[in-house]
This record gives sequence, structure tokens and C-alpha cells, in this order.
Amino acid sequence: MYARLRPWLFRLDPELAHSASLRLLQLAGGLSPAAAWLRRRYAAPAQPVELLGLQFANRVGLAAGYDKDGLAWRGLACLGFGHIELGTVTPRPQLGNPRPRLFRLPEDEALVNRLGFPGRGAAFLARRLAGPRPPGLVLGVNLGINKDTPLEQAAADYQRLMAIFNPLADYLTINISSPNTPGLRQLQGREYLNGLLKALAPLRAKPLLVKLSPDLDAAQLDDALAAIMDNNIDGVIAANTTLARPAGLRAASAGEAGGLSGRPLASAALHMVTRIAARTQGRLPIIACGGIFNPSDARAALDAGAGLVQVYTGLVYRGPGLAGELAGGLAG
Ligand SMILES: Cc1cc2nc3c(=O)[nH]c(=O)nc-3n(C[C@H](O)[C@H](O)[C@H](O)COP(=O)(O)O)c2cc1C
Repeated sequence: MYARLRPWLFRLDPELAHSASLRLLQLAGGLSPAAAWLRRRYAAPAQPVELLGLQFANRVGLAAGYDKDGLAWRGLACLGFGHIELGTVTPRPQLGNPRPRLFRLPEDEALVNRLGFPGRGAAFLARRLAGPRPPGLVLGVNLGINKDTPLEQAAADYQRLMAIFNPLADYLTINISSPNTPGLRQLQGREYLNGLLKALAPLRAKPLLVKLSPDLDAAQLDDALAAIMDNNIDGVIAANTTLARPAGLRAASAGEAGGLSGRPLASAALHMVTRIAARTQGRLPIIACGGIFNPSDARAALDAGAGLVQVYTGLVYRGPGLAGELAGGLAG
């Protein structure tokens, strides 16, 4: 069905297509017959797994950025995900970068985005999380800083967000790896990260993860991991989008500024998972993210040492059946 819908969706401006899909999922999630239909149509085989002290219905999650403001998570929860990561949320609302800021690279099965954390802010997302939860769904919230927050005050932004979302989320992710907020990725440096995590770890009431950039070189990754292990952080997500442009990209939009996601990111993200698992002797829980499009990609991520996987761009290219397909492949 999605194969027939996709050409129509792809004729729309990418951001418009995204908001239309979110809107539909929001409506469906609020309407019980529609939600029940989606749940039947997209059910994923149950394969419970424990990680971070949480029970996940399966190993497949939705990556941050898809539903930044928590508009459609009840509908998205009907698509078979074991967990959904909302956000990135910033303390105050902000517009993000000027449009156009999201581009499809169809020939490469990729996207480039330079959204810059547009969103309605923490108070809005907190309201969206009120009310009963579908049983068995793990909800994470991904935290970011406002664009005009100086890096020296980054910890205060994250602390404020932790205070708000500790009681509402099952886990929290510190996002220090988006390429679209100036200076943010400097927080991955050993000194910065150590200082930041020292300021945040005492406020932790839920498992706390750090999301890393695939653009760290081996030494930078080792430094970041040292700070993460020294501060007993619960896990990492590898990886965010990349500023690199791997050789062989064919789409015209490959030259757009911003973070690249999807197929061309797969090998760098997998490599990163392998290195993290080796460096931490498998002691640090890893969520693999980047270019996971089919069950063999997901299997490779688990074999490399990840406990869970997340998808974003795969959902755009493969459609709403992806979580069920991946979870089915991993269960079988
Ligand atoms: C349009 C778009 C927006 C994104 N926004 C966020 C975000 O707000 N926070 C975040 O941590 N990651 C964000 N990401 C990164 C994804 O969560 C994911 O790490 C990355 O896209 C790699 O996975 P994929 O290849 O499956 O898309 C975004 C990705 C895309 C394509």
C-alpha cells in the first residue's frame, strides 16, 4: 500500500508531507476505531526484552525528531514500535532555521535536514504527555538546548528539562550531537562532556542516555566514552545525522547543508556501534540508529553490540510497516 502512496507523498514538499503524516497519525491515534485498525494492521510480533531497567515489547524504536512536539505519539504507538523517542525538545519554543530545511535524496534513500530544533517548547510537550499510556510502550524524551543559550549555560537548559520530564518519560536522552545548533557538538569534547554530565547525573530519576555524532573520530569517541563511563551514564544512542557526504551520493540535494541520514549513514553508524561495544567491553547499553532499513540491517546492529535499534529515514522510504517488519525479522 505504501508503495502506491509514496509517489504522491514525495510530490509534496518534504516538510509538508511530514506534517501531513503526523496530522493523520494524530487523528488516528485519537480515534479508537482507527487506532484499533492501525494496531491490527501493523502489529509487531512481541519479543520482550529488558534494557536500561525497562521492559520493551520489542527491539525497534522510533528515533528522535520524527515527533518533536509529541503530537502524534498515540498514533505512532499503533505502528508496532517498542519505544518512541519524542523531541528534541528545548526549554523555550523556537522557530528553527528558515525553510526550505528538509530535503529528500531519493536516489540515495537519504534525507538532509537543517531544521535546527523547531518546536513548541517543554511546557507544550509536557502537556502532550498527560493522560493514560498504551500498555507496554516505552516513551523517551530527547532534550536539547535553545539556539540562543550560550554553551556555558547548556547545563542549566538540560537541568530544567530533566526536572520537567523526569516524572513524564521512561528515559531521557541528552542530545549533544545535532549538527544544526551552532556549537552544540563541542559538548562532546571530554572536558565539556565531563562537566556537563557531572552537573546532570545527580538529577537523574530515569535512565539517562547520551546521543552521539557519527562525525567523532576514533580518539574523540574514546574521550566521550570515558566521560560517559566515568559518570555512570546509562547508555548511548549511536548515531545522529552526519555532516559528511560519503562518496557516491547521486541525488541533487546531496550538496544541501545539514545532517545526512538514511542509507549512506548505515556503515558509519554500524562501525560506531562496534567501536563503542569494544571500548566498553559490552558494559554500556547501546541503541543503534542510522540507515536501518531492513531486518538484516537491524540484525547487523545487534550483532555489533546494540541492544535496541531506532529508525527515522527508513520510515520515510519504507513506510509504516517498517517496525513490524524489523521486529518480525529479529524475532524469527
Ligand atoms: C528530519 C529529521 C529530524 C531529526 N531531528 C532530530 C532531533 O530533533 N533530535 C535528534 O536527536 N535526532 C534527530 N534526527 C536524527 C535521527 O533521530 C537519527 O539519529 C538519524 O536520522 C539517523 O537515523 P536514520 O538514518 O534512521 O534516519 C533527525 C533526523 C531527521 C531526518
